Amino acid sequence: MASYKWIDHSFDVVVVGAGGSGLRAALGAAQAGLKTACITKVFPTRSHTVAAQGGISASLGNMGEDDWRWHMYDTVKGSDWLGDQDAIEYLCREAPAAVYELEHWGVPFSRTEDGKIYQRAFGGMTRNFGEGPVQRTCAAADRTGHAILHTLYGQSLRHSTEFFIEYFALDLIMDEEGVCRGVTAWKLDDGTLHRFRAQKTILATGGYGRAYFSATSAHTCTGDGNAMVLRAGLPLQDMEFVQFHPTGIYGAGCLITEGARGEGGYLTNSEGERFMERYAPNAKDLASRDVVSRAMTMEIRDGRGVGPDKDHIFLHLDHLDPKILAERLPGISESAKVFAGVDVTRAPIPVLPTVHYNMGGIPTNYHGEVLTKAKGDPDTVVPGLMAVGEAACVSVHGANRLGSNSLIDLVVFGRAAGLRCAATVEGGANQPDLTAKAGEATLERFDRLRNASGGTPTAKLRLDMQRAMQENCAVFRTQEVLDEGVSRIAEVHKGASDIAINDRSMIWNTDLVEALEFDNLIAQAAVTVNSAAARTESRGAHAREDFPERDDKQWMKHTLSWFDEATGKVTLGDRPVHEYTLSNDIAYIEPKARVY
Ligand code: FUM
Repeated sequence: MASYKWIDHSFDVVVVGAGGSGLRAALGAAQAGLKTACITKVFPTRSHTVAAQGGISASLGNMGEDDWRWHMYDTVKGSDWLGDQDAIEYLCREAPAAVYELEHWGVPFSRTEDGKIYQRAFGGMTRNFGEGPVQRTCAAADRTGHAILHTLYGQSLRHSTEFFIEYFALDLIMDEEGVCRGVTAWKLDDGTLHRFRAQKTILATGGYGRAYFSATSAHTCTGDGNAMVLRAGLPLQDMEFVQFHPTGIYGAGCLITEGARGEGGYLTNSEGERFMERYAPNAKDLASRDVVSRAMTMEIRDGRGVGPDKDHIFLHLDHLDPKILAERLPGISESAKVFAGVDVTRAPIPVLPTVHYNMGGIPTNYHGEVLTKAKGDPDTVVPGLMAVGEAACVSVHGANRLGSNSLIDLVVFGRAAGLRCAATVEGGANQPDLTAKAGEATLERFDRLRNASGGTPTAKLRLDMQRAMQENCAVFRTQEVLDEGVSRIAEVHKGASDIAINDRSMIWNTDLVEALEFDNLIAQAAVTVNSAAARTESRGAHAREDFPERDDKQWMKHTLSWFDEATGKVTLGDRPVHEYTLSNDIAYIEPKARVY
């Protein structure tokens, strides 16, 4: 092995990732006077939060009566009862304060006539425990994530968060007692290797949409933190639940916000029929995402898709006032023009369900502390390790996330993690020295990949993985198709031993970055497809044609999954869903049939 040298750093708190949740957590820790670092592989304002369009949910009640309990009911129902109700209560109760905090920090929300934050309708959001639609999603036109991310970055700079930009995080530093002592990273622009020692390490590394062929996710969405957790021998949770957004642009995959339907847009099939009326007679086009994506897929399968190959669906905005389109949906009007050649004021947009979000991730409690199952206790906290945002599975989204519940998850739980650090970390406290062994396994893996001289380019391995996931772990699933997916992904994993890296440089070696990202993705693809093959029921985004019913008796539980990198073997376990709330202000919401 080549000789490598670590550059060591020491902080109270290290956050990995500078999207909405990472910045909010870093900001909270820094505000509490803790020496805080934020490591990020891309410039903070390029993090994928920037792409969030339609809005952030909170029961402000600016457009009619609303209540955090109604928001909680919708979120529990949206999760198909797999969400942990203590965490969901925390999310919905804290949401309004978190949005006002953003407003006061400068997020340029759209406004009502009387100057309040504008709120639009989104799928599955109702008033009075399911009675009818409510406008709960706070919006900055259709660029809400962009507005939030830039504001949070500005605020982080006001405090003393130290940024380490274009550092690729490699692995957690775990000691022999199972305590997380920090993280290792590779600095892309000068090739140096770094060990960040910290009392708390917070993973905010986002989702792994790029395990699939067609996703709304940026190319950087490779779930690096999730894979670091797997390599540390810890489990991920509920990885079988992958959200398909109903309206990705056909062919390009770019997102057309659900806010388009919130503003009055609707879907049609080749007969010009507004088919959602058949599938969700009350909510129609604003049913929950899993419901709409399944309905679109069924229409296409039944021969009622549009286009020469009858393989997609139309989204109509052409009946809406062009002034509204220009004011509230300028971004997607431009995307439709650029990526589909469509003028939305005159023609419908061709759309298709597209991978958008991972409900699964790193199991945490509502403080953001990472959980594992030790000595039979499924809620054992891993000391020193936290996770927030899409990387985490709190679990507030359960089997299916409602649109606009992601941005609020980022800021509510990013804030909670900052508060937890403030309560549990003593600024400047002594930390044990890192041993010479800390990071050794990371260096071996790094060196092995850097010097890999096989015959298979990363691009081929990645494409094989993405196609297998797209074909074998999609909207509808059967045992046969999933089992085939398990074998295909295992083959790709095996093939990775023949990976070819053409560039040996330590500086801006994009070949090596892609290999490291692929290594992260394939582990997550394996646990995803294995978890899906094991869950013999339909719940939320996991729709089994061979097991079409939800089975609360057998399956009201979270899946845990471990991955052995050497063999590619996936081990599965489970932990119970939290069937209790945090306070007496709302009782546990009992499971029932989920109709919209
Ligand atoms: O449709 C959208 O604007 C996406 C929002 C979300 O995923 O929360």
